[in-house]
This record gives sequence, C-alpha cells and structure tokens, in this order.
Amino acid sequence: MSDDVATGTAPDVAVPSLPEPRGRLSEAVVTMLARSPSSSRTCTRSLAAARGADPFGDDLQLALHICYELHYQGFDEVDAAWEWAPSLLELRGAMESTFLTALRAGTPGGDDAAGVLDELLVEPAGAGAVPRHLRQAGEWWQLREYLAHRSVYHLKEADPHAWVLPRLRGRAKAALVAVEFDEFGGGRAERMHSRLFADLMEEAGLDSSYGAYVGLVHAPTLAITNMMSLFGLHRSLRGALVGHFAAAEITTGPSARRFAAVLHHFGVGERGTRFYTEHIEADAVHEQVLRRDVVGVLLAEDPRLAADVVLGVQATGLVEQRFENHLLACWRAPAPRTSLRRPLPGASAGQP
Ligand SMILES: [Fe+2]
Ligand SMILES: [Fe+2]
Repeated sequence: MSDDVATGTAPDVAVPSLPEPRGRLSEAVVTMLARSPSSSRTCTRSLAAARGADPFGDDLQLALHICYELHYQGFDEVDAAWEWAPSLLELRGAMESTFLTALRAGTPGGDDAAGVLDELLVEPAGAGAVPRHLRQAGEWWQLREYLAHRSVYHLKEADPHAWVLPRLRGRAKAALVAVEFDEFGGGRAERMHSRLFADLMEEAGLDSSYGAYVGLVHAPTLAITNMMSLFGLHRSLRGALVGHFAAAEITTGPSARRFAAVLHHFGVGERGTRFYTEHIEADAVHEQVLRRDVVGVLLAEDPRLAADVVLGVQATGLVEQRFENHLLACWRAPAPRTSLRRPLPGASAGQP
C-alpha cells in the first residue's frame, strides 16, 4: 500500500468530461474531438472564425482551454491521439495567434525586464481589492466562488511551468527545478500545492475533482491558465513563461497573506488555510530564485529574450486585472450576482 492510500490522500484520478460549447469555435473543437483524429480535416470557416474572434471572449477561451487540456489530463472518451492531430493544432494555432496579439496589444511592452519586476515589489494603492472586499463585505458564497474560479489553475498548479524545463539550461534550469520541486510537494504527494488547494476546496464544501468547475467559469478565469499554457507550450515564448512565473511568485506572497486572513475571518480551519500559509513562506524564497537565478541568468545568456520576459510579466498583470474586475463587477453590483455562469449548488455548504 502506498503512503498516499495509507494517509487517505489518494490522488484524484477522475478524468473530466468535455465542457458544453459556448459558440462556434468551442462547438467546432468539441465536434472534432467526437470523431477519429485520423479522419479529421481543418474547417476553413473555423479558421476564419478563430482569426476574427473576441480574444477575451468565452468561446475562444473555452475552445483554447479544451485544446490545451489534451496536453494535461485529457477528457473522458476523447482519443488521446488528438493531442498531436495536425487539423486541431492548426485551429489552435489560429486561436493562439488571436490571443497572443491581444496580449501584446493590451500591454505596454519594452525590454526592461528588471525594471518591470522591480515595479511589482511596490504594490499599487488598490492592490488586494478582492480579498479586501471578501473581508469587509463578502459573503461565504462569494468566497466559495473565488475558490471555484481559482481551482481551474490551482488543481494543476505548476504544471504549465514544467513545459519550460527542457527549454532551459544550466543554472536557470536547476533553479527553476528547485522551485517546481516545492510546488510539487518536495517529493510528498500530500504536500503538493494542488493537493493543498484540493484540501481547501473540500473544507469549503466544494468538489475538488480536477476540472470540476471549468464549465462554470467565464473567460477571464480561463484566460489566466490559457496564457500559462500558451507560454509554456511554445519554446519561442520561454522568456514570457519565466517572466510570468517570476511575476506570479512576486505577487503571490502578499496575496496569500491576505487570503489566509480572509479564511481566518470566515473561520476556516488549519487544513483549509494551509494552501495560503504555505505560500507566504515559500514564495518569498521562490521570488528571489526566479528573479536572480532564472530570469537573471537566462537574460545574461540571451539578452534578446528581454522583451518576451516583459510580455510575460505585463500579460500576467493584464489577465489578473480582468479577472479581478469581473469578480468585483458581479459582487459589488447593487444586487450582487454570481460571478459564475450559474450559482454554485449548496450556497452555505462547508460554512464553518
Ligand atoms: Fe504554489
Ligand atoms: Fe511558488
């Protein structure tokens, strides 16, 4: 019997089902996946739709999420060979181009990588608006929605960053592996950050199965993880991936401190808060390693990657701001409404 089984932390092995389509592109992708990958051809109308789609809209973001998920855990009843089917990769490429163009257009750019990372060390006046709302005026159902949104990434925490490892060398690679080792629990499955988040979800009465809430979240949530997959899966964007990772580690420490306080405010116990308390300590170290030993070393070796590192840092701020705006627009409305496509069942489930 493995340690996992003995300690009751058996990994989640359920494979998600395909989500419901939300428009022409996601419909096209879901329809393709129902067929055999060998007999499939790219539909030129879908390619045109991908080029003209709203880059931050539900349809394109869900379609991209489905394409990327084939590289992670896949979907129940979808042939694993779809992962490398040229027809789907062509459609995904058109959607990625639309998304990447929008990320570039929505950020100021530049090549001062150290400068943009330094800026993150000084928090702007309005930082932490979501945890502040949750502490001052938030309700339990809103906290549960927040966790459902974040589960799309945290249940595969650090997976998108692992794609970059073979694209690095020497000190930058060794340093990134050290950070990833922590993210994956330092060799202990029950300490993996994805597992700690699953524990928190269970404490809040939520379904901790991988991908359980993908069908309920809107585009701003999907765009955060899609951006990571986009940067991670393209060697040409390795600079953007490490820039994103450094930005995430710098901003996660203060954010984790705030969310630990939110959970305390709602009376969530130690098993539930461990995900955030772990990040307060860990990310103070990860931030230093990413800045100095990954970004610093990589740019010393190849200064041409500086603009991509800046893109990764700024795009992280862009997608996170869109997500925050969405949550607050829903929750601070005169009649507060759900930030999900449908309210979560059992509004008071898990309430301490
Ligand atoms: Fe983590
Ligand atoms: Fe971290």
